[in-house]
Amino acid sequence: MKINFGSTIPATHTQVLFKEQAVPMLTETDGVTALILGKGKEGKVTARTFRTLVRTAVRSAKSSKIKRIAFTLDDVLFPELVNDHSREWVLRTFAENLVIAQYEFGRYKTDKKKESYAAEVLVVGVLEKGDKESIKWGETVGTYVNHSRDLSNTPGGDMTPQTLARAAQTMAKGTKVSVKVLDQKQIEKEKMGALLGVARGSTEEARFVIMEYWGKGKGKEAPVVFVGKGITFDTGGLNLKPSDSVLDMHLDMSGGATVMAAIVCAAKLGLKKNIVALIPAAENMVSGESYRPGDVLISMSGKTIDVLNTDAEGRLVLADGLTYAKRYNPRLVIDVATLTGAALVALGQHASAIMTKDIKVQNMLMELGEESGDYVWPLPLWDEYKQYTKGVFGDLANIPASHGRYGGSINGGMFLSHFAEGFTWAHIDMAPRMTATQSDHLAKGATGEPMRLLLKVAELY
Ligand code: BES
Ligand code: ZN
Ligand code: ZN
Repeated sequence: MKINFGSTIPATHTQVLFKEQAVPMLTETDGVTALILGKGKEGKVTARTFRTLVRTAVRSAKSSKIKRIAFTLDDVLFPELVNDHSREWVLRTFAENLVIAQYEFGRYKTDKKKESYAAEVLVVGVLEKGDKESIKWGETVGTYVNHSRDLSNTPGGDMTPQTLARAAQTMAKGTKVSVKVLDQKQIEKEKMGALLGVARGSTEEARFVIMEYWGKGKGKEAPVVFVGKGITFDTGGLNLKPSDSVLDMHLDMSGGATVMAAIVCAAKLGLKKNIVALIPAAENMVSGESYRPGDVLISMSGKTIDVLNTDAEGRLVLADGLTYAKRYNPRLVIDVATLTGAALVALGQHASAIMTKDIKVQNMLMELGEESGDYVWPLPLWDEYKQYTKGVFGDLANIPASHGRYGGSINGGMFLSHFAEGFTWAHIDMAPRMTATQSDHLAKGATGEPMRLLLKVAELY
């Protein structure tokens, strides 16, 4: 998407107007077209409705096959938003949502026309100091959300652990993010037995991606570490998923994609912060070499794990990711994963589940979720739930031996908590936000979430 600035709206552009009325409409007077959108009856625009409004403008333009759209600054800078947030926030959010709404996953389409719609935006009006920078900032954030979506949306056949690791290197090129990739042999040397167990059924080798950004200066401050689930395809393993459930499972590396995009975006924006992103990547496949239900894995931490279900693989690869994170003496560790279908049962498709024992971190995530648009909602990690993580032959079990259907997301979080010892930690189960839903007004497929939230955390924590 190209965002340009001007003083008048030329006839080549369709002006987007926000009016009280509810029905979207395309009008034409004297050869000048306008796209009229309803901003809600009460007329008070909130952060949430603003995002929807901007996205609707772009999606409506796209469905009307309009290539160039224009906004006046006055139309975009709703006084209530400038008051409640800031002019900077409004312009950043505006640009970011333009960019993510314009996105299509066009890689496999021979006809690229769809990508050209609403690809040019003209912003008209008197700019104040810093306005262009705010719009540029939002554009950058949106672009990296889209990078995350590109990686997620790529089918499993074309996005293996190795390709994912290469994508990290490509994305980081030209930035101050360093990338190191551990191959199968190095992973064995690190004794990441949980990651290796999951990877065993696939002909594709595991990878462990380490991305570092020392924006504050190495040694100057302990880093914030993000750990992203990098399952490039989740068949469920020998506890094979039914046909309907396996369809979207190339998106099971979305946590990995989003932490990658977040760290590179932070570098692009020049944040003066130390950030590390870790992505344990594997393919959960079915073969004669697959790990079995009943196998006992020795994780990198030394803790042994009964594999009671090979489909609860995300928590296994993350266990080794969290253990590795400890090396950095981190200030905060956040893992991001499409971990449980149960999170969808609990929350529907409109918020990721967060779990942490640190109430301050919980409140921060909820606040920054509202501010960034990556909404989250908490679930408890109380000691009462610890009993369900006990192993029979191993120290731990990857699912409860009984009560299997209750509190599925919490069980996942509680399992991970055993590997998050010695540092402040939060778990984001982003399964609910793995794919866009109709009211998101985004292209079908990955949302790229919660990249914007991670960025905010990196910026402010
Ligand atoms: N990747 C899935 C979770 C998932 C399901 C994400 C649907 C997005 C949409 C995960 O690896 C998984 O299979 N979890 C199991 C856990 C169960 C075996 C305890 C699940 O949710 O069924
Ligand atoms: Zn699974
Ligand atoms: Zn999975």
